[in-house]
This record gives sequence, C-alpha cells and structure tokens, in this order.
Amino acid sequence: MSKKVLVATVKPFAKAAVESIAGIIKDAGYELVLLESYPDPADMIKAAAEVDALIVRSDKVTPELFDAAKNLKIVVRAGAGYDNVDLQSATDHNVVVMNTPGQNSNAVAELAFGMMVYLARGCFNGKSGTELKGKKLGLHAYGNVGKHVARIARGFDMEVAAFDPYLPKAVFEKDKITRINKVEELYKTCRYVSLHIPANPETNKSINFDLMSKMPKNAVLVNPARKEIICEDSLLKMFAERSDFSYIADVAPDCAKEIESKYPGRYYFTPKKMGAQTAEANVNSGIAASNQIINFFENGDKTFQVNK
Ligand code: 3PG
Repeated sequence: MSKKVLVATVKPFAKAAVESIAGIIKDAGYELVLLESYPDPADMIKAAAEVDALIVRSDKVTPELFDAAKNLKIVVRAGAGYDNVDLQSATDHNVVVMNTPGQNSNAVAELAFGMMVYLARGCFNGKSGTELKGKKLGLHAYGNVGKHVARIARGFDMEVAAFDPYLPKAVFEKDKITRINKVEELYKTCRYVSLHIPANPETNKSINFDLMSKMPKNAVLVNPARKEIICEDSLLKMFAERSDFSYIADVAPDCAKEIESKYPGRYYFTPKKMGAQTAEANVNSGIAASNQIINFFENGDKTFQVNK
C-alpha cells in the first residue's frame, strides 16, 4: 500500500507550494491528503489516523494526535520553530520530528525590515519620520534568520552587532559582524534589537525588564520570533516608564489591547503570524518537507531530526 502524507495547515501554504508538494509526493508513488483551514483541531487528529507522515506549519501536534495516528512515523514542521510539536510524545510514540531550517528565513528577515521601516516612518502617518541608515541593530541570536537580517541591514547602511554564545568567533569574523559577548551589552548599545531566539522553557519570558531597560534612547524592540519569549509584565512596564520605547512584533502579545489603547504610534503587531507568509518561503519549506519525508522512508535519512 502506498504511503499517505497528510498536509495539515490551518494557515494554508500558497497554491504554488501545494502544487510542488503534490508533485513530489505523487512522483514518489505516495498519496497526498490535504487538510487546509480546518476549523477544529479534532479534524486534524481525525485526518491523521491513517497516515504515515505529517507536514504542518504552526499547527499544534499534540499527544492526542500521536495516540490517534497509529501509522505515523514522521512529522515535518515546514518551518523553523517546532514549539508547536509535543516532542516527548513524538519520541514516546517512536515518531521522528524534523523541521526545515533556513527555508523561510529570508521571508522572516524581510518582514522584520518591513516593520522597522513602517515604525520609523510614523506608521505612514504623513509626518516626518526617521531613517534606519546609521542606526545600530543588535541581533539576539545569529542563526538562519539573523544572518539574513544582517545581510539586509548592510544594504540599509546600519551598524550590525550580534549576540550568540552558541557560535564560534569565526562565524562572526567571516560575516564581518561585531560579536557581543554579554547579552546585556547588546541591549545597552543597540537602538534596534531584533530577536531570533527559539521559544522553549529556557527562553520563555527571557526578554525581561532587566534587558529592555538597558536599551538606549528611542529604543525599538523587534520581535519576528515568538510572543512567548517576551515577559509581558516587563513590556508593559517599559511602555509606561519609557515614552521613547517602541515594540514591533510578528503577532500581537497577549497584552496588545492595553498597548494599543495607551501607546499609539509606538507599536505594530501583525494580525496573524506573517513572517513566513510568502509564496517563496512556502515553496521552499514545502519542497524541503516533502523531500525529507521521502528521504526518510526510502533511505532512512534523519537529517534535521529534532527529537533526538
Ligand atoms: C517558523 O517557525 O518557521 C515561522 O514562525 C513560520 O511559521 P508559520 O509556518 O506558521 O508561518
């Protein structure tokens, strides 16, 4: 019997990406099951019951799904962050979980600049704004997205520094990026700080008042990552105590209503997670996810496994 691959995306891929995925799956002799814009997570669990592989975006892959999906061998999160997949449950059910690192990074980086320019120009209110040129941008983590942000920042003539304790000096030297050794130093010296850390128990709420309050005058905190990494009490305290502070984020914090009502012109939040919402990013990560599944079944390839 041919293997079944379920693509379950509450936020669907672009049409071109679905066509690419369908072509790859069909060419391998597998069967595609497509579940888009489903209203209820139970629909995804039901659809997963018979499949061998699952491709998701930010869709939650829960212990209930792993219990129900008796044939499931592999889940690929078409994207970078896999905080939506219950890794322990996957491991307990002998299911391999992978992501597709780097495939949507440029899209996320471009969105960060879209938000920065929008805010610097007073949310296009017709009044005089500021430019990014000559401003210092600090990257909190220098992974796939951080590297694209640094590349684009050069085009804007920004000064770029990065903090990433997991990377050797040579990476910064090669890219001619100022390496910051202490995270506090990044916040102290950069007017713009862009966050590129994953959401996990270690990083949740880790961007706190202690860090934010170190930022210089007219500070802008840019969050194209996850809302969970921000300590929202600290965020509200910053807005209240520092009238020069702004926050722009790819997806609103839980305290968005309070910020929106009290601090106009000092924030921008996307209505839903938008960083990877481009046809190019969808095609790249969709193709990578499909190929990774086929390579796993045909060759036992577990590159990009994240639940080791
Ligand atoms: C990621 O982690 O890759 C991005 O946040 C994209 O998420 P999305 O696929 O839900 O848009």
